[in-house]
Amino acid sequence: MRLSLIPLISLLPLALSSPSPTEGGSAVERGWDHQPKCNDLPTRDPDTCECLPGFYEPGYYKRTEDYEAESKGKGGHHYKECVCPDYPNTYIDFGNGGHGGGGGGGYGGYKRKGGYEPEPECKCKGKHQHYDPDTEKCECDEGYEPVDDWYYDKRGGKGGHHPKPLKCKPCPTPSGGYGHGGKKNYKRNPSLHEAIKMREQDERALETVLGCKDEEEACESNGSWRCTDVSSSLWSCGGCPGQGVDCGAVPGVSEVRCHQGRCLIDTCRRGYTVTPTPSPEYGTNTSCVSNNGSRGVESSKSHWFVNQAE
Ligand SMILES: *[C@@H]1O[C@H](CO)[C@@H](O)[C@H](O)[C@H]1NC(C)=O
Ligand SMILES: *[C@@H]1O[C@H](CO)[C@@H](O)[C@H](O)[C@H]1NC(C)=O
Ligand SMILES: *[C@@H]1O[C@H](CO)[C@@H](O)[C@H](O)[C@H]1NC(C)=O
Repeated sequence: MRLSLIPLISLLPLALSSPSPTEGGSAVERGWDHQPKCNDLPTRDPDTCECLPGFYEPGYYKRTEDYEAESKGKGGHHYKECVCPDYPNTYIDFGNGGHGGGGGGGYGGYKRKGGYEPEPECKCKGKHQHYDPDTEKCECDEGYEPVDDWYYDKRGGKGGHHPKPLKCKPCPTPSGGYGHGGKKNYKRNPSLHEAIKMREQDERALETVLGCKDEEEACESNGSWRCTDVSSSLWSCGGCPGQGVDCGAVPGVSEVRCHQGRCLIDTCRRGYTVTPTPSPEYGTNTSCVSNNGSRGVESSKSHWFVNQAE
């Protein structure tokens, strides 16, 4: 509001002193001619110097250095280029490069000195995304979904822009459609074959579809998939059953934990001592070594194979 008063007042004497009605053209044109202070800025209304609909005063979304750098060389004296919402995902397309019209904005082009200028538009920097003027946010294109977006939603990150730049990745859509936007509204349980295909495209595709947390892996059990916390599962540490390590099977251990997907030996059985020798087989950074010098017997490994063979 405050911004709009000054230019309107300064227009008054100019309008009185140039009474030629035929030469002047539209009010927009006159505004352009006589108000050099915002004339170079396509994101501002030439009459009022206010930001055009859909644009905002700089400083709300950008760091000062950023928008000062941007307005440099654009000849703005008092006014700086307005900015697009959803920083840092957006940029202003001034319409110089030919681009397919993507559902044009609200207002018609302004008639300026050189004729009609293309209207500036907010565009998204990232691939596979588009700017939605209604939500004033970048959204993933159809068939793509935000990387880790659910993660932010779960933390209640409402009321603003994405904490990190928006990135979009293809939705996992193997043969049997998980509709776009997949994750929460998946309909059926992926088959093993589908799961393999999905994982070929993206290692965490299945987890994303099932809505697993970061520390969880999608594990198959009796034909259905479940998000399993493999970061702390003692009997299947660091992977699904069959792939993770059974920490209890680490030779010589007494007290053992699964910590961030690795077995961590706290104490060893009587007759064994914890030594700082990693055991790559079990993914531990220590081992239990027999007090008489030999390493513990690898007892339960054989169990495993017996089970598998059944
Ligand atoms: C596995 O699934 C089959 C068929 O759906 C069912 O009969 C069986 O009880 C299930 N087994 C376990 C351990 O859940
Ligand atoms: C083993 O790893 C744990 C957890 O990362 C760490 O706290 C511990 O100091 C490590 N022990 C050795 C001997 O490197
Ligand atoms: C060493 O200790 C282990 C486990 O306590 C035992 O099975 C093995 O027979 C011992 N070997 C010798 C040479 O004492």
